[in-house]
Amino acid sequence: MTYTEFYGNEYELLKQTQHSLTVKIERMMDAFRSEEDIQPIVYYCSRIKSPDSMIDKLQRYGLPVTREAALGSIYDAVGVRVICSFTGDVISVIETFENDPDIEIIKKKDYFSNPKPNGYRSVHLCIRVCETAALAEIQIRTIAMDFWATLEHQLKYKKSISHEALIRNELKRCADEIASTDISMQTIREILKDI
Ligand code: GTP
Ligand code: MG
Repeated sequence: MTYTEFYGNEYELLKQTQHSLTVKIERMMDAFRSEEDIQPIVYYCSRIKSPDSMIDKLQRYGLPVTREAALGSIYDAVGVRVICSFTGDVISVIETFENDPDIEIIKKKDYFSNPKPNGYRSVHLCIRVCETAALAEIQIRTIAMDFWATLEHQLKYKKSISHEALIRNELKRCADEIASTDISMQTIREILKDI
């Protein structure tokens, strides 16, 4: 199924929402560029959820497989990911979004302070973009944790994994080491700033 077959006329609205968020991030990067010695935002990416993946999610949540449910009950038809250098930058980016009058923050999922049992650390902002009234999800995390999440995500697509418990344990250990390294890097950065 194509994007327009599933999302209909609303597809334009989703594209507009995606665009207004990426413009916002570009502006944030420009502002940071003149303020900070190291760019807080390493990169960002965005996507509109594919019809197949949206249908799968609606079914998983026991929701009707309709455009209305996809746009009204699921936050991430539009998804944006912002990857930061340091943990302090993650906090700055979140604060910038929180103080932005063009978006309404509906829910904040803080897997940074409360990591998932597998070790996943990231902050998800479920928002409404005022201009289009569409829902969107913004994920913010460090580049180190993004590296981890990319590999961990592969597990989702594997049907049978040999030594699964061992792999999950190793990934959890790596996530905790990354979190500890992220804290050390932030501390060193602050020390260097004051010299
Ligand atoms: P879905 O996981 O998409 O069904 O959404 P949800 O309502 O459970 O929200 P949640 O905030 O938990 O996850 C939203 C998105 O965050 C996912 O689609 C992934 O992109 C990412 N994510 C959440 N948890 C994990 C995780 O444990 N590992 C990785 N690699 N990504 C995750
Ligand atoms: Mg989930």
